[in-house]
Amino acid sequence: MPDPTRRTVVCGLLAGLVAPVSLAACSSGTPAAGSPPAGSAGNTPAGGGSSGTALAKLADVPVGSGAIVTGPSGKVLLVRPSENEVKGLDPVCPHAGVTVAKPEGGTITCPGHGSVFDAKTGAMKKGPATSGLTPIPVKISGDSIVTA
Ligand code: FES
Repeated sequence: MPDPTRRTVVCGLLAGLVAPVSLAACSSGTPAAGSPPAGSAGNTPAGGGSSGTALAKLADVPVGSGAIVTGPSGKVLLVRPSENEVKGLDPVCPHAGVTVAKPEGGTITCPGHGSVFDAKTGAMKKGPATSGLTPIPVKISGDSIVTA
């Protein structure tokens, strides 16, 4: 028959070994309160990236229209409402992720299910999307459009 003292010692050692593993298992995969969800990486929109990265020549984005280019973090829809104004938008439709078309006639249309967005701001004008296109900061620098 085992010595009760020895059994107590063995059980105490096992509890000491198992407890840290259990605690580690409980703490992994569960974000702490107030921390962003996995994969969010802050609020950096797609296509952004470091400031000053060239995206396109200004001449390649016609006034009243736009162009989809690839930025350091993904695609960017560049729209040019006027001669000296350029805006960047995430071309991924917020409804179901289809890439929207270039601006035409003052609007941007999604070929997926027909959502319509304002060509100057990306604001939603018609669903089924329930929000507008996400802005991506860009600016004019000389004869180029760069990340801002
Ligand atoms: S994905 Fe754009 S309207 Fe559905």
